[in-house]
Parts: sequence; C-alpha cells; structure tokens
Amino acid sequence: MQKILAIIGARPQFIKHAPVELELRQEFNLVTIHTGQHYDDNMSKVFFDELKINKPEYLLELGGMSHGKQTGMMMMQIEDIVLDEEPDAILIYGDTNSTLAGALVGAKLHIPVFHIEAGLRSFNKSMPEEINRVLADHISDMFFIPSETARTNLHKEGVKNNIFNVGDVMYDMILLARKTGLMKNSDQSGYYYVTLHRPYNVDIEPRLTEILKMLNSLDKIAIFAIHPRTRKKMEKFDLKTSDYSNIKFIDPVSYFENINYIYNCNGLITDSGGMQKEAYWLKKKCITVRPETEWIETLENKWNTLVFDDLKKIGNIINIQPGEYKEDVYGNGNASEKIRLEIMKYFKNK
Ligand code: UD1
Repeated sequence: MQKILAIIGARPQFIKHAPVELELRQEFNLVTIHTGQHYDDNMSKVFFDELKINKPEYLLELGGMSHGKQTGMMMMQIEDIVLDEEPDAILIYGDTNSTLAGALVGAKLHIPVFHIEAGLRSFNKSMPEEINRVLADHISDMFFIPSETARTNLHKEGVKNNIFNVGDVMYDMILLARKTGLMKNSDQSGYYYVTLHRPYNVDIEPRLTEILKMLNSLDKIAIFAIHPRTRKKMEKFDLKTSDYSNIKFIDPVSYFENINYIYNCNGLITDSGGMQKEAYWLKKKCITVRPETEWIETLENKWNTLVFDDLKKIGNIINIQPGEYKEDVYGNGNASEKIRLEIMKYFKNK
C-alpha cells in the first residue's frame, strides 16, 4: 500500500482535505501533517470535529510568524517527518505557506508532489498566495485542476504533463453538506454576509476604515465573521466594533455555520477565494473586494463582481441581478473520487 503524506495548515485546507481524505483512505496509507498555521479552535479544531477529519498524525506549532520564518520552519520540520516516514508522494492543497513548504520539501527529496487546486492564477504577485501557487506548480508532478482555465495557465508556463481536470473538491464538500441535512433555511434573513482577511484590505488603516464605513451604510445589516488577522488589525488601528451599528461582528464560524450564513444571505461580500465559489454554488450574488480573481468563471452573468479601487461600489450589491446560472462550472462534485483514481493509475504506471 503506497503511503501519501498530506500537508494541511490553514482553514480552507481542512475543508478541501475532508472529502479527499474520505477517498484516499480507501486505497492508500494516508498520513497527515497539520502545520499549525491556523491554530485557534474556531480556525482549526472545529473543522476537524465537524467534518470528521482524522486527527493529524503530526501537529506542528507554526502559526503566527513572519512568512519567511514560518515557511522555513515548516520546511525543517516537514523534512524530518518525510525522512522518517518515507512517503511515496506528498499531497498539497491550494496556495498557502503550508502548501509551498510541503512542495519544496518533496521536490528537494525527489518525492513526487501532487497538487490539488493547481493552475490557479490571480497574476497579482503582491499576494503571497500567488507566489506560493506558482512556485508549487513548478515543482509538482501531478496537477489536479478545477477548470480548463487552470490548464491554460499551466500550459502558458510550460507545465504540460500529468494535468487532470477533476473539478473542485470544495464542491464535493458542498454536496456532502447538502446530504447531511445541516444546510437549512434559517429565520435569520435580510442580511449581507461578510468575510475579509487579505492583507491589502485589512492591513491598511484608511482602507479598512473605508470598508467598514461602506458596510455600515448598506441597506441591510452586514454580518461580519471576523478573521483573527482582521480582528488584530482593528485593535491595532483602534477601530471599535461598537462604532458600527449596521455591522454585526461575529467570531469565525464553523464550516456548516458558514455555509448556512451564505445559503441564507442576500449577498456575500468577501475577499476569500473559496467563498466566491461557495456563493456561486449556492446561487448567491457576491462582491469580491479584490482587483482580480482566480475564479474568473464566477464573474460570468454577474454572479460575482470585483470591487477594489472604488469601495463605494460595495453599496451596489443591492442592485446586482445575476443572469443565467451554469451548472458544472467547476466539475460535478466527484473531484475527490477522480483524484483517487488518477493517483492509483499514476502508481500503477510507475
Ligand atoms: C492564510 C493564507 C490564505 C488563506 C487564509 C484563510 C497564506 C500566505 N495565507 O491567510 O491564503 O486564504 O489563511 O484564512 O498562507 N491567526 C490567529 N489564529 C489562527 C490563525 C491565524 O490568531 O487560528 C493570526 C496569525 O497569528 C496571524 C494572522 O492571524 O497573525 C494571519 O494568519 P496567517 O495564517 O498568517 O494568514 P491568513 O491571513 O490567515
């Protein structure tokens, strides 16, 4: 039985890992490292409990550092584990510092690296995620892409082999959520749902202040699930939640709570990558507070709208009326199974 070492560390990776783990454990010896990049109970533990993810075999404590230090220390500790475990492959997800650290360790030890959610590009190198994903793709061996756009991006960079369009594993998770019955209509309606954590939105005082001002002036209440990074910045800038009567600030929520907040909202305002798609799958309009998105398919028919320079346009959310909805934009919810089958073929042909 081949051994696969999965590396996860940040909130969206726990969500992506949940359906993949279910599939891969059927066929492989799956060992998981949690780097500890996200460490608060409501940024980490709650996802393991709720999504019934196996306890990671290794839990590192590498949250809350500068990027260089964090990535470097992850590499040192992951390398030791890899030398000890001798896996047949390393599995990485998305674009975080944990992704890059895992990819680098694998590549340097000549262990095949499989990248889930490969080929995404924002073409904005000021985002740490863009650096992480470009580098990870250039040292990976197998690429699981969610859309043909990702294939085009990889081809343009000369990455041509072992690319498999399996769809998006986050869609698998949405379908699993639907099955549980935990996704339901709530009494709480008539609100916009908000999450923001990108450094370019929350690390700059005038910009964060302007965004909060806009949220405070919306026609409906804004429920803002506030990321630890954003909370820390609000404290640093002395921005008081009590000054914003139209914003209901809540702590980060679990996966099912988050999905329910999207499912029942009048629109999502976010800078998250994954939530742009979740809004799409749940047929909710979305304003993405970013200059660009990797998920360009969501922009079609106004399901998703980018707002960046002119923050006043956040207020336009009331007027947006999305057009036709296209099914299967990011596959049809069986990405994890396809990943398992492709990995089986890969090992067979080796
Ligand atoms: C990271 C990812 C980003 C992803 C996001 C999801 C990178 C470069 N960025 O950004 O791609 O969209 O996670 O949330 O990998 N913190 C806590 N408690 C926690 C987690 C974080 O207090 O449980 C603090 C950290 O100590 C740090 C700040 O929040 O001060 C930012 O966390 P970090 O993981 O560095 O980056 P994110 O902004 O979360």
